[in-house]
Amino acid sequence: MIGTRALAVVWIMLGSVVAAYGGEVSFQKDIYPVLQANCALCHSPGGIGYAQSGFSVETYQTLMEGTKYAAVINPGSSISSNLMWLLDHRAHASINMPKVCEQVSREFQKCALASQSARWLSQHELTLIKEWVDRGAKDN
Ligand code: HEC
Repeated sequence: MIGTRALAVVWIMLGSVVAAYGGEVSFQKDIYPVLQANCALCHSPGGIGYAQSGFSVETYQTLMEGTKYAAVINPGSSISSNLMWLLDHRAHASINMPKVCEQVSREFQKCALASQSARWLSQHELTLIKEWVDRGAKDN
């Protein structure tokens, strides 16, 4: 009995990890700065990632629009959001993000320079983004 109860408590604690951040994950406070620091150099007008995919992290709106082909965030479901596949490095190595530039294109120099200032996101940052998407990817 006690075992079951202890398990339940652990379960509840796991479920409320977000509460540790003071309630909700905030797009402005928790998500936007991470994207600006690690994606914006390539994913805003003039950047190579934007040129090739159409994906820009400039504003909440452009982020939600996704690439020139499709949205990459499915509000409420991080598991079906392409963005999480790329960030968790579950996609093909060549398309995981932030991009590691291979010396294949004329744009290589530009891309290599930009990628120097980006880094793979930490587990903490990935958890925040996941939570934010699962809670509806709000403009909060
Ligand atoms: C050094 C440049 C660079 C950085 C930094 C970078 N990207 Fe990219 N990104 C690219 C390029 C180039 C492409 C075009 C497709 C490809 O070559 O993989 C791309 C494509 C994408 C796509 C579209 C994939 C598709 O399905 O078409 C998404 C989404 C994306 N990046 C997200 C991000 C996020 C989020 C970050 C920050 C964590 C980031 N990228 C950082 C260069 C970059």
